[in-house]
Amino acid sequence: MIAVIGGTGLYRFLSGATEEVTVDTPYGPTSAPVTLGEIAGREVAFLPRHGRNHEYSPHTVPYRANLWALRRLGATKVLAPCAVGSLDPAAGPGTITVPDQLVDRTSGRTSTFFDGHGVHVSFADPYCPVLRAAAAPGADRASGTMVVIEGPRFSTRAESRWYAAQGWDLVNMTGLPEAALARELKLCYASIALVTDLDAGIEAGEGVHTEDVLAQFRANLPRLTDVLARTIATVDPAAPCECARGDHDLPDGLDAGPVW
Ligand code: ADE
Repeated sequence: MIAVIGGTGLYRFLSGATEEVTVDTPYGPTSAPVTLGEIAGREVAFLPRHGRNHEYSPHTVPYRANLWALRRLGATKVLAPCAVGSLDPAAGPGTITVPDQLVDRTSGRTSTFFDGHGVHVSFADPYCPVLRAAAAPGADRASGTMVVIEGPRFSTRAESRWYAAQGWDLVNMTGLPEAALARELKLCYASIALVTDLDAGIEAGEGVHTEDVLAQFRANLPRLTDVLARTIATVDPAAPCECARGDHDLPDGLDAGPVW
């Protein structure tokens, strides 16, 4: 099964015959019930990251519950659309990027399932190469480095200029710990990043405002959902992948190995 974790502005995704399931997890409730349905003959699970009514801020999203529930339901691959600010004036609002690297500027988030278990997953390449390759044809850019800030505030101009000066491309608030937790569960995971704004250090004007982010997301939603649907149609959910490497056991309640 392929899962989609919808970001800001993507609260519903599947249409037609769907089923809603609530999964009890050792980490508390998920952001919302999971919707199960089909796209291109493939079973798909959808979970809105921030809740159906955007109840969860980036720093309060129950990341562990969400990923544990999706894995428990049989997800093998996770697509993670998200709203991002751009640190590159040439990649303005509406640009869709499939990032290939991450920088962690979050703090205080629980970012592992394995307190005290001596598990250190490989994270040099934080995203699944197969999922990225499947998503790339529909995107404007097939690589980029996304810096994940703690939020929920946007960056100052100085922070933003500093991120851009490092050569980083995108800024976001939810890409971590989600990607790292997915790797711990041996799930394939890729972000599909929709630029909703030029970040504060780039923009000549007033900085970033939530209304603009939401408006841009709404305007570009049809294209983003099209990229997601095409990616789902291309990916074989049962294909083995290097993302499942690692000899650690999965957390309690999940099967020991990869599900395929
Ligand atoms: N999400 C959308 N735009 C953003 C920005 N400029 N900074 C952080 N997260 C964002």
